[in-house]
Amino acid sequence: MIVIVGFMGAGKTTVGHLLAEKLGLPFVDADLVIEQRTGRSVREIFEADGEPAFRGIEHQVTADLLAGQDAVLALGGGGVEHSATQQALRASQVIYLQVGYEESMLRVAHDEYRPLLRAPDLQAIFRRRLASYEAVATQIVATDGRRPEAICLDILGRLAELPSAPPG
Ligand code: S3P
Repeated sequence: MIVIVGFMGAGKTTVGHLLAEKLGLPFVDADLVIEQRTGRSVREIFEADGEPAFRGIEHQVTADLLAGQDAVLALGGGGVEHSATQQALRASQVIYLQVGYEESMLRVAHDEYRPLLRAPDLQAIFRRRLASYEAVATQIVATDGRRPEAICLDILGRLAELPSAPPG
């Protein structure tokens, strides 16, 4: 399993799609699976049930996906703050797409579907999460000023250098 983590706007979905295509694996977006399973948008869940409820669903879906079919899996930006998710990620290759706060805001600031963008302390949330991204990462990839195709090639190069997993 290859898992992509990082803050909103890091390029998890765009790079994840490219990577999945190159590796011949399915691409899975955890937020989309949450929406399919609940029949509601992430924004609706935040508004109706609150963020803690969303985080519970997010963890359950992530744990199920990690135990499932091999894929390139993109997590939502806050998924790695859940301690049980951090544990569950230990068996995977975890690619952390690093993005600066300013660049992240340039990429997503006008998106109405990301409820967390309305958080008054968003920059503090960003800073707090950096430690979680670093803790779960097996690869850290800078993205500021880089095109998704270049980022994808960078990741493929790193994956090719890894010792292959022992059989069984
Ligand atoms: C969130 C990021 C979103 C989504 C939800 C909460 C976050 O995913 O899971 O809106 O807490 O950072 P993306 O990182 O794909 O935007």
